[in-house]
Amino acid sequence: MNNPFNLNDTESYLRWREQKLAAAPASIEELVVEVRDPRALTPSEHAALAERVRRCNMAIYASTVPDEDTEITRLLGRQFGLHRLDANWLAGEDGVSSLRVINDGTRQHYIPYTDRPIKWHTDGYYNPPERQILAMALHFVRPAASGGETRLMDHEMAYLLLRDENPAYIAALSAPDAMTIPSREDEYDGVREAQSGPVFSLNRDGSLHMRYTARTRSIEWKQDAATREAVAALTRLLASDTPHIFRSRMESGMGLLCNNVLHERAAFLDDAAIPRLLYRARYSERITDEPFKSWT
Ligand SMILES: [Fe+2]
Repeated sequence: MNNPFNLNDTESYLRWREQKLAAAPASIEELVVEVRDPRALTPSEHAALAERVRRCNMAIYASTVPDEDTEITRLLGRQFGLHRLDANWLAGEDGVSSLRVINDGTRQHYIPYTDRPIKWHTDGYYNPPERQILAMALHFVRPAASGGETRLMDHEMAYLLLRDENPAYIAALSAPDAMTIPSREDEYDGVREAQSGPVFSLNRDGSLHMRYTARTRSIEWKQDAATREAVAALTRLLASDTPHIFRSRMESGMGLLCNNVLHERAAFLDDAAIPRLLYRARYSERITDEPFKSWT
């Protein structure tokens, strides 16, 4: 089957590559769509967000909705065909996680619930193959007092730039034993068995999936030269000043909708009186491109 993400299918790759580069946003501003209420988008707001997701697997909305309401994220997702929430045991009952700095209890041991930086990753990289995260939505109720910048990179663009540099990097990162998460305790189930898998793989619909973390602890890379060189190339790319990395400081009422693209969060300073709060929903399905249907 023709697929641009097949290393043997150069023709499909080159065609896809040309379109991908032509459609790539030149700046973060191109990703942002102003919306009145993310819970109930107008058809034109929906179309504008969907168009950005088609181009680069992500879109940012800007609203002035001040509400503390996890339904914002759940209802936004539903309007893009996202129904199957991947709830972890720290998420709320509706499957949406409220991320804030927590100084006691179990959550303080997980970086999302601290003010520390989170290095480049895709969500759920530690999950077994049958439980991969294909889409993700974030909604910022309150940003941090300072810091906390979000960096984003379309994982398809990372694939493209790496393949252009050397297709052998893609081959190494597609090996089923490229990356192993050793057995550990995690935020889903407590104790987990070691989990090996590829960085790049194909979803059932032929789209590209990426599983990655820049963490150096709690991760084991395959110990061969090809993998080491590929990981080094990816690390260089994510530390570079490529225009395909977007930087955003999300304001209150803003949010991200994406097909689990690469992302990173800077450290931040919290103000205890108005602490940072954001909602996060993770899905086991990709954003669909179907025409707008009201959720009511
Ligand atoms: Fe994340």
